[in-house]
Amino acid sequence: MMKILIVDDEEMQRDLLKGFLKKKGYEVATAENGRQALQRFLELPFQLVILDHKMPDITGDEVLAQMKAVNPTVGAIMITAYGTVDTAVEVMKLGANDFLEKPVDLIQLLDKIQMIEQRMMVTAEAADVTETLHQGELPVLIVGDGAAMKEVLSLIRRVAPSPWSVLIRGETGTGKELIARLIHLLSPVSDGPFTEVNCGAIPENLFESELFGHEKGAFTGAVAIRRGRFEMAKGGTLFLDEIGELPLNLQPKLLRALQEKRISRVGGEKEIPVEVRVLAATNRDLKLMTAEGRFREDLYYRLNVFDIEIPPLRHRKEDIPALIIFFLEKYSSRPVIFDPDAMTTLIKYAFPGNVRELEHIIQRTVTLGRGSVLRTGDLPSEVRFYKASEQGSLVERLEAVEREMIFSALEKYEWVQTRAAESLGISERVLRYKMKKYNIKSVE
Ligand SMILES: Nc1ncnc2c1ncn2[C@@H]1O[C@H](COP(=O)(O)OP(=O)(O)OP(=O)(O)O)[C@@H](O)[C@H]1O
Ligand SMILES: [Mg+2]
Repeated sequence: MMKILIVDDEEMQRDLLKGFLKKKGYEVATAENGRQALQRFLELPFQLVILDHKMPDITGDEVLAQMKAVNPTVGAIMITAYGTVDTAVEVMKLGANDFLEKPVDLIQLLDKIQMIEQRMMVTAEAADVTETLHQGELPVLIVGDGAAMKEVLSLIRRVAPSPWSVLIRGETGTGKELIARLIHLLSPVSDGPFTEVNCGAIPENLFESELFGHEKGAFTGAVAIRRGRFEMAKGGTLFLDEIGELPLNLQPKLLRALQEKRISRVGGEKEIPVEVRVLAATNRDLKLMTAEGRFREDLYYRLNVFDIEIPPLRHRKEDIPALIIFFLEKYSSRPVIFDPDAMTTLIKYAFPGNVRELEHIIQRTVTLGRGSVLRTGDLPSEVRFYKASEQGSLVERLEAVEREMIFSALEKYEWVQTRAAESLGISERVLRYKMKKYNIKSVE
C-alpha cells in the first residue's frame, strides 16, 4: 500500500485527510510545516505527498522541489486556495501531478490518488524489467547474472541514490559487505568515507566510545580525544555490520543518534551534528529477534527502510559456474579449468559458507592442484564426499532430498516435465512449482 505524507499547517485539515485516507487503507503520516515535512521525507520513502500550497515557513512548491531532488519519482497533489492557481499547467510547472482546491472534495482526492497510484504501478513494472544494473557499469565486480542476483542488482539500483537506510540480509559469506560497498559507490555520497563498524567484534564496554568517540579523560585509559565511527563517516556511509549482535542495552543509544543525527562524545557536553547514510547487515532473523524481545522494534524499523535479501548460494546454483571461473582467474597464475565431473561435484555441494567458501575452495584447489585440468580428486574432501542429505536441519535435509529427486527425474526423462512428474507421482503443476522453488533449470 502506498505511503502518503500530508503536509498542512491547519490541524483540522490534516486530521480530516489523514482519517479519510487511513480508512481507505493507506499508510499516512503528517507534517505541520515544510521543515518537518522534509525531515519526515528523509526518514521514510513516501510515494505520494499531499501539500498545502501556502504555508508559513516554506511554500508547498519549494518543499516539493526539495523532495523531488531527493526522489524524482515522488508523486504530489497540491492543495491550493480557491482561485490562486487556475490552470493545471501552472501546477505541473511546480512539479505536482495534480491539484485540488480548498475545500477539498474527498472523493475527488481519492480519485486523483488512485490515478497516480496506477500510473506508478505501470512505471514500476516497466522499470523492473529494464532497469537493472549491468556488470559493465558496476564499480565493483559482482559475479552472477542469474534471476536472483539480477533482482538484487535492480533493488540496489533503486535504493542507492536515496538517503534511506538499507538492511542487507543474508547468510554468512553471501556478499553482504560487497553489496554495501556497491551501494555506497553508487550513492550521492560516494566521494565521502565508507566507515565500517563490526557490531559483533566490539566489547560491550567500549561500544559507545567506538561509535561516538570520547573526550580526553572520559574514563581511565582515555588519554586523548578520539573521534568515533559516526564522526568518521560524516558525509559518507556508515556500515553497521552484524547489527544483530548489538547488545540490547546499547540499541537505544544508536537509535537516538540515528533519529537526531547528532551525537556527543563520551564524557563530552557538546552535540556534534552527523549526516550519514546508514547501511546495516545481518545474517540473523532480525524480525524474529524483535518478536522475541532481543532486538528493539523501533531500531529495526529505522534500519529497515529498505530490505535487500541475498539468497544463499545453494538457492542460486546458476551463479556457481561464473563464480568458479572468476575465482580461477583471480587465484591462478596459469590457465586452469575443472573437468566436467569436478564441475558437477562442485555445483552439487551445498556451500554452507556460501561465496566465501567457494572462493576458499577454489583458492586451495588451485594452489595444491597440478596441471591445467583440475579433477574431482583435487577437491577438498567435504566437497567430494558431500551427500545432499547429510547436512542441515530436518527441513533442509528433506528439501535437499526432494530437490535431488526432482533433478534426477528431470535428467532421466530428458527434461520432459510430464514424464518426470509422472515418475515422481506428482502433478505437473506441483512439479513446476517445486522447480521454481528449488531453482531447477536444465543446464545445457
Ligand atoms: N557475487 C559475488 N561476486 C564476486 N565475489 C563475491 C560475490 N559475493 C561474494 N563475493 C566474495 O565473497 C567473499 C565474502 O563476501 P562478503 O564478505 O561480502 O560476505 P558477507 O555476507 O559480508 O559475509 P559475513 O556474513 O561472513 O560477514 C568476499 O571475498 C567477496 O568479495
Ligand atoms: Mg560481512
